[in-house]
Amino acid sequence: MSAAAGSPASKMVWIPAASAIAREAGARLREFYSQGVETEYKGDVDLVTVADRAVEKLIRTRLAEAFPDHGIYGEEGTRDRLDREFRWYVDPLDGTTNFAHGFPQFAVSLGLEHRPAAIQPGEDGTLVAGVIYDPLRDELFAAERGRGAQLNGRPMHVSRTGNLGEALLATGFPSRKRHASPNIHFYQEFTLRSHGVRRAGSAALDLAYVACGRIDGFWEFNLNPWDTAAGILLVEEAGGRVTDYAGQHYRLASDEILASNGPIHQELMSCFEAMFAGRDLAPIPTPQEYAARRAARDA
Ligand code: IPD
Ligand code: CA
Ligand code: CA
Repeated sequence: MSAAAGSPASKMVWIPAASAIAREAGARLREFYSQGVETEYKGDVDLVTVADRAVEKLIRTRLAEAFPDHGIYGEEGTRDRLDREFRWYVDPLDGTTNFAHGFPQFAVSLGLEHRPAAIQPGEDGTLVAGVIYDPLRDELFAAERGRGAQLNGRPMHVSRTGNLGEALLATGFPSRKRHASPNIHFYQEFTLRSHGVRRAGSAALDLAYVACGRIDGFWEFNLNPWDTAAGILLVEEAGGRVTDYAGQHYRLASDEILASNGPIHQELMSCFEAMFAGRDLAPIPTPQEYAARRAARDA
């Protein structure tokens, strides 16, 4: 169903063209997915496929046709017109590891930043539009600043869950420098304090799911602007909150993101604060302790 005539959503400026591009890109991903693709390694376990590159090329062409004055910053290397007032952050395939293994959770993500003339190179502009498209479920999540957020054309909202104990959360783990990530500790603690933590392998969809209320909160270390630009705006326009772990305004270069429905944000931040300070950590058996207990039980 399309937005009612005259409603803010019906006045969306960039979303109609960006949605068409995301749908075309998603259709290409579906074709590659059904054929199966060869996988290469960008790093340790950082995978890339022919689909990532071909779909970024397609998006780059289509964005340049639709918005010739806009810049494009893509995961697979596109760096076009970065001096312009508007800049698209493009992740042609968020969830490459899933895609490569035939696990059905991946998306196209397009986020638009407005960068006024006086802005410094390292400074953030304002996110003004975002589209995330899940080609396997045919779900298109879209938002423009001040005009609300939609899932397949219907208004979408964050959940109303009021406390962490009743929340369903999501997180992800990096594919680069895995040994430097502390996230397994947070995964453990938040698992014990909530209904559970999903780790589905697409940060863009994790954020889209916070925006539409399927997930109440999401955090991750070391994401990139192409992973988060669209999703941040979706969450904010759907009524949620996005900060770093200490509640500071989220920056695209930030190495920590915390997104939630709003009501549980303070509780999530308090947990981060306590965990970083080494307080309130729940003791769990080490594998050796568990093995000793098992051996005693079986003796
Ligand atoms: C990855 C996914 C994953 C997240 C990784 C990202 P990619 O993006 O968003 O959920 O945990 O940190 O790198 O590489 O599939 O585009
Ligand atoms: Ca990504
Ligand atoms: Ca990607």
